[in-house]
Amino acid sequence: MIRMSAPHSAPSVRKAVVPAAGLGTRFLPATKATPKEMLPVVDKPAIQYVVEEAAAAGLDDVLMVTGRHKRAIEDHFDHAFELEQALAAKGDTVRLDAVRDPARLADIHHIRQGDPLGLGHAVLCARNHVGDQPFAVLLGDDLIDPRETLLSRMLEIRDRYAGSVVALMEVPPEQVHLYGCAAVEPSGEDGVVRVTGLVEKPAREDAPSRYAVIGRYVLDPAVFDVLERTAPGRGGEIQLTDALQELAAGGTVHGVIFSGRRYDTGDKADYLRTVVRLACDRPDLGPEFVAWLKEFVAGLEDGDADRERPAA
Ligand code: G1P
Repeated sequence: MIRMSAPHSAPSVRKAVVPAAGLGTRFLPATKATPKEMLPVVDKPAIQYVVEEAAAAGLDDVLMVTGRHKRAIEDHFDHAFELEQALAAKGDTVRLDAVRDPARLADIHHIRQGDPLGLGHAVLCARNHVGDQPFAVLLGDDLIDPRETLLSRMLEIRDRYAGSVVALMEVPPEQVHLYGCAAVEPSGEDGVVRVTGLVEKPAREDAPSRYAVIGRYVLDPAVFDVLERTAPGRGGEIQLTDALQELAAGGTVHGVIFSGRRYDTGDKADYLRTVVRLACDRPDLGPEFVAWLKEFVAGLEDGDADRERPAA
């Protein structure tokens, strides 16, 4: 297992929970037989970026909360003996490493959610594995650009303030209904706020702010007792936001304001943007792809999408 260097000497958080039991209906039919978390972003499945992000922040234990039809996720983070042997026999060390890397990122565990009763329920399923320690939750639809250090910053805030920490991003008013939304007060520290309330996917006129919860949380284990008694909320699901609202009312939730690069791979248009942006940034693909993209866009602007030359 690769131990990535932790950002600070003795992180009190070691475990990450990655809920991955959703049905992926927004991407049908691609997700009919393939979990949405396995859709490729350039040449890695979306969920691998999330596990890499956890590992880069020093979290070396990752629990995937999966559902039915998610075997591909388990296989991806396991060894692929025959494939590895075939690549080793050919001396293809680059591809061999690419195949081995996912299993080396962290100790990966899997648990099944059983009934898809909501994000809060998925987190509750992690209770036995997590125990009485703070832990991180990373939602697979939110892809944070690998160059950002959001999670490390959240872990640092948890170390200093205790309680729970959510990642907040300012969104346009017409988008707040897509997110958990936070009422906030200044904390006295730049980029950090005290969260005084949370509401899941409010109507624009009911939103307490434009601060949306994006899918990164560092949670105090106190959240489990709250989740146990959290009744189904919006959409008939047990909402993590509702449990966090109770903790926020008790004054134990902080928010880290994030204004960096974050992509929503659960949305088709944003998924396409993610692939293009990350492909442009890749040293091996970027230069040629960017050159093609410029020609393609110039062709679109001229009203002739077929004008672009095929890539060399
Ligand atoms: C979930 C959470 C929501 C949060 C969002 C971030 O919603 O319930 O509070 O803002 O993730 O992506 P979902 O997008 O799964 O419906």
